[in-house]
Amino acid sequence: MGLQISKALPLANMAMFCGFAASLGLVWLWLRISQFNKCYAPGPPSWPIIGNLLHFPSMHPWLGLTEWKKTYGDVVYLHGLGNSIVVLNDLKAVNELLDRKGAIYSHRPLLAVIGELVGLNQSTPLLPCDDVWKLHRKLARTALNPDAIKKYHVVQEDIAALLNKSLCDDPNDFRESFRLSAGRIILSVAYGIHAESYDDDYISMAEEAMEFITKSMVPGAHLADAFPILKPLHSWFFAKQVQHGIDMVQHLLSKPLQHVKTQMALGIAPPSLTHHLLASFGDDDEFQSRDEYEETIRWMAGSLFGAGAETTYSVTLTAVVAMVMHPNAQARAQSEIDTVIGTHRLPSMEDKGSLPYVEAFIKETMRWSPALPLSIARRTAQDDNYKGYHIPKGTTVLPNVWAISNDCDLKYPPRDFIPERFLDPNPAIDPATYTFGFGRRICPGRYLAENSVFIIISTLLAAFNLSPELDTQGVPRLLQPRFVSGLVSSPESFKCTILPRSEERRRQVLDRAKAVTL
Ligand code: HEM
Repeated sequence: MGLQISKALPLANMAMFCGFAASLGLVWLWLRISQFNKCYAPGPPSWPIIGNLLHFPSMHPWLGLTEWKKTYGDVVYLHGLGNSIVVLNDLKAVNELLDRKGAIYSHRPLLAVIGELVGLNQSTPLLPCDDVWKLHRKLARTALNPDAIKKYHVVQEDIAALLNKSLCDDPNDFRESFRLSAGRIILSVAYGIHAESYDDDYISMAEEAMEFITKSMVPGAHLADAFPILKPLHSWFFAKQVQHGIDMVQHLLSKPLQHVKTQMALGIAPPSLTHHLLASFGDDDEFQSRDEYEETIRWMAGSLFGAGAETTYSVTLTAVVAMVMHPNAQARAQSEIDTVIGTHRLPSMEDKGSLPYVEAFIKETMRWSPALPLSIARRTAQDDNYKGYHIPKGTTVLPNVWAISNDCDLKYPPRDFIPERFLDPNPAIDPATYTFGFGRRICPGRYLAENSVFIIISTLLAAFNLSPELDTQGVPRLLQPRFVSGLVSSPESFKCTILPRSEERRRQVLDRAKAVTL
């Protein structure tokens, strides 16, 4: 092999090749020596120079990383070419680091492709923990704290009512209907925009942009993220893709903001987070100019739209999968609704808190297949030590939510769908404590999301029976769901039968939809 190379390369290239190889060797030697006295967490055996580069699972990485838990334990260390990754497979470790040591563990990894090339590093989820990020969080808190979200109850009920009507009218297009509903809630809250249909420009552009973003943000998606030196090559080889990403993101941010500004100028803007913030310029002296203020709102509101729609869609569609696969759990939830609320009306936001089995069903949905199985990765701001293990500055930290939600439970096996685990005298840990993230970065939209998920799932259970589709012989087809391998993992396309539970329930759905004021 070496002989072939030396024949093929002219002398100068050969010298460059040898120089490069020698430098790599020296870097590797230097790294080995500098790390010699340090104790790292266990991990798969690594190769010289490239370390564990080839080990990181490329598809549904949370599954492979959870398997490693059996061999290497709760804290797993991977490295390669100067990059290090720590996987946290246990809730205690996650809380001890991401929550209690928030000053060290709250930055985000530097993503060369989606962050720097496409420009998303100005969005709330990708900003480092700096002053701009603090402003984003402050503005988001204004609109999304538990008190503020009460004013969105009616919007959420109305959107659930429209979803149920569309399931009556066109049950085969249920996927689109769920996506439209999740997008509608965020569009209403963030911009006061009402999307008419699934083909609405706002919904389709968000779907396209989020597909691109969530696929690009899953760890290991682009080599240039691990090796920023490859960034120029990436932007050259994938120039069209990068430009398309930039255009999509800018469109997603600017179009709805412009819409609100135009409506405000005409005096017809409905109440929304963006409207409220644009009208409040000057209340806060943290901004130098109106342009700076608007730019912050543009990114913050756009981030809510991006982060809130896909996740809500993922949870509600996963609940559909769970209902189809687990008719007994579905029937028990329906019977609770019929008993507590009665059969004369559909659930409303007022009923949240009085339906323990329905709420256990929702918790089990979020545990059974978490929307963000690897949460959103963090980056360490400085060297740290945990349980005697050295964690270098700049390490990417992955909270493995999938491993946490699948922690061994002898009474209720983790892969089985059993809402009862949350009603046990010794209940399972509430998934709200790990599926919405941790510490300083915890999801700012979680209260809104919990309400959206409650109203959509409870009214769905009250109004419809969901079951597997029938084959040509009339035999139910077993649903074997597959989930997308992305930052947000939602069910891939599947079929099922959705029918009103009774004529009375169908009438209630249609009557409630007629009362929608959006
Ligand atoms: C069921 C639905 C949702 C789930 C499962 C979810 C989950 C998460 C998770 C795991 C994170 C990462 C937190 C961390 O790094 O520790 C996050 C961040 C975030 N979420 Fe959510 N989320 C949901 C809905 C929403 C909604 C409805 C909104 C907006 C209205 C929203 C806005 C955000 C934002 C802006 C961030 C970034 C926070 C930051 O980096 O500081 N999310 N979410």
